[in-house]
Amino acid sequence: MSSKHPIGVFDSGLGGLTILREITQSLPHYDFIYLGDNARAPYGPKSFDTVYQYTLEAVEWLFQQGCPLVVLACNTSSAKALRTIQQKDLPVIAPTKRVLGVIRPTTEVIGDYTETDHIGILGTQGTVDSGSYKIEIGKFFPDVKVYQQACSEWVPLVEKGLHQTEEADAIVKECLGQLLEQSPYIDTILLACTHYPLLMQKIEAQLPRGIQVISQGDIVASSLAAYLKRHPAMEQQISKAAGPDAIEFFTTGDVSSFQDKASQFWGAKVLAQQATLPG
Ligand code: DGL
Repeated sequence: MSSKHPIGVFDSGLGGLTILREITQSLPHYDFIYLGDNARAPYGPKSFDTVYQYTLEAVEWLFQQGCPLVVLACNTSSAKALRTIQQKDLPVIAPTKRVLGVIRPTTEVIGDYTETDHIGILGTQGTVDSGSYKIEIGKFFPDVKVYQQACSEWVPLVEKGLHQTEEADAIVKECLGQLLEQSPYIDTILLACTHYPLLMQKIEAQLPRGIQVISQGDIVASSLAAYLKRHPAMEQQISKAAGPDAIEFFTTGDVSSFQDKASQFWGAKVLAQQATLPG
């Protein structure tokens, strides 16, 4: 095992890099390790049990790499696996380690963005079916009406690196239309899937004026910074960045394909390594 104790950041594939980018900008002084389960993405259409099993394997792998803290930078995993991992698995497998998700920090603040109290949520089928956003937003902002739309084709588009093609225009348009049909009062759309910010330009180009699009990266980053302030014992366990290897990237999929696609939106060359999960 490495002597490092990085913050682990996990996603089913490339999307979590949109969260990692914001986190590393806010918290540049820590070591990070990113794991994308590209070989088994997309998670969105998979059953509760499968997403839970895959996510648990990824979390255990990140713990084995020395991470005291793991962020599930994946809404589908946060919706379908986080609670069980926190309540059932952690006390048994790693009582001093912690796993955080992306839904809670987002729902704590999302109601502050809307003036009409009508919010649209775009997510994977799994996230939408879980009802997690409706339930959690209802706790913090009971007056806000939540409309959801699953965009099943968006994650495969991004994973294949086709998000800037003309093919993407029609796919984005169809899904936005299905959401906006549900209410004329939606003034805020949340991208509740970490892959979707890669489609931001296409989304904004198709929307009527007056509708804002929110992605989660900076929300999750500031929530994590606040968490570390509130939990100094955890903060002290995380190793501090010392040079160019402060961020390590792993994929369960093809390494060179991951590197090619990841560097497109990381803004710099990404050197990835192979990860093998037990399943
Ligand atoms: N980035 C994941 C999310 O936020 C995508 C899930 C998938 O693989 O379908 O939900």
